[in-house]
Amino acid sequence: MESINSMRNRFIDLKKQAETALFSKNFQAAKERLEKATEVLRDLYQRDTNPRNREDYITAMNNLKVQHDRCLDELGEGGKKIRVNASTIQKKESGGANKPAVQKSSKGEEEDDGIVYEFNGINVKNFLTQEARSKVTFADVIGMEEEKKVIRRELFLTPEQQQRKVQLGLENKNFILLYGLPGTGKTFFAMALSNELSSFSSKDIPFFSVLCTQLKGSLVGQTENNIIALFEFTKQFERCVLFMDEFDAIGMSRTQASNDPTAIPTVNTLLTQLSGFSSNPNLLFMAATNCPYNLDGALLSRAALRIEVPLPSSAVLEALLKRKIGAHVDSSVNLEALAKALANAQYSNRDASNFIQAVLSELFDLQMADPSVEKINMKMVNAALGKSKSSIKQNEVARLKAFNEQGF
Ligand SMILES: Nc1ncnc2c1ncn2[C@@H]1O[C@H](COP(=O)(O)OP(=O)(O)O)[C@@H](O)[C@H]1O
Ligand SMILES: [Mg+2]
Repeated sequence: MESINSMRNRFIDLKKQAETALFSKNFQAAKERLEKATEVLRDLYQRDTNPRNREDYITAMNNLKVQHDRCLDELGEGGKKIRVNASTIQKKESGGANKPAVQKSSKGEEEDDGIVYEFNGINVKNFLTQEARSKVTFADVIGMEEEKKVIRRELFLTPEQQQRKVQLGLENKNFILLYGLPGTGKTFFAMALSNELSSFSSKDIPFFSVLCTQLKGSLVGQTENNIIALFEFTKQFERCVLFMDEFDAIGMSRTQASNDPTAIPTVNTLLTQLSGFSSNPNLLFMAATNCPYNLDGALLSRAALRIEVPLPSSAVLEALLKRKIGAHVDSSVNLEALAKALANAQYSNRDASNFIQAVLSELFDLQMADPSVEKINMKMVNAALGKSKSSIKQNEVARLKAFNEQGF
């Protein structure tokens, strides 16, 4: 008998063929492919007992139906419409966005919050970054205005706009790669984006942040199993954001990493898991890296949006300084000139944040000794400058520049 995996692959192929046909407005061919894909999905639904997968099949069938209806309209035929099991769909729609679609799994243990963290004996909680989710939003991200606009246009869609996208056969841009020098604000941006998405949809969208170095195991197959467990974990949620920080730790180029034989299965596993992720418009996958030039080409090319988080300009640094110390400086301090100096010295956002902390602690120390001291003056600024510096390395700047010029 045909394996479930092979059926899934057959479905993916048919869906791709249908989308290609739709794109070239060959509605007859698209209609036929969609009907075949629906048959495969129906069989899968019968055969596959995994409740999470079954939810996925219903979602997929809904998408097929929308495309199929459009083909029938375009072809001017009444035709037989695809029917989707209505009772199951209604159940899915009535659930809240942050409510896991599956409450219990025979595979894993359920914890107090109703979320299953354990898959194949692996507790995903070990990988999730424990830091409390900060409430930063796009308003807290200084600069990056163009990037925010692109993201709003791609991801912040009403259900009608989303449906229009499906009708057109447009793929979801739900794999975003953030790259840039250390400390430029990639992690900060990812967090802000996820909060922004939550407030746009008026429902909380869970954000899961993972440090990829944590996923690496020393035993054969361990890293791959950890990755699979993580992606299985996200399938419980109707909507969620998965953020993999320091992505290069597991996404290293398979050809470059000839001295690390584990890179090949790891990247292959990631590619498989990501292809499942990308078919679901409700999931958003984000990855961040300081060194995109080390990433595997296949992974890079999957990223629908590649966003460079640049070193802050002097205007961005000036806005940061104004926001954090503007109220505390006296007239001897020219923040515009100071920002220019920091930008010339290639301060990252983190370096600038460290510098700001140093200035504030100068003020604090002096106030402790003499309560009449009220404001930050140029002397304190210079003292803080003496204690801080840029962490940017020139060889990293050069490699990033070459990467950008290559056009990847
Ligand atoms: N655009 C920004 N606006 C304001 N502060 C920022 C911005 N980008 C970064 N920061 C500050 O710099 C710190 C370091 O950023 P982070 O996201 O950790 O950098 P990266 O992940 O790129 O190494 C953040 O915690 C935040 O305080
Ligand atoms: Mg980071």
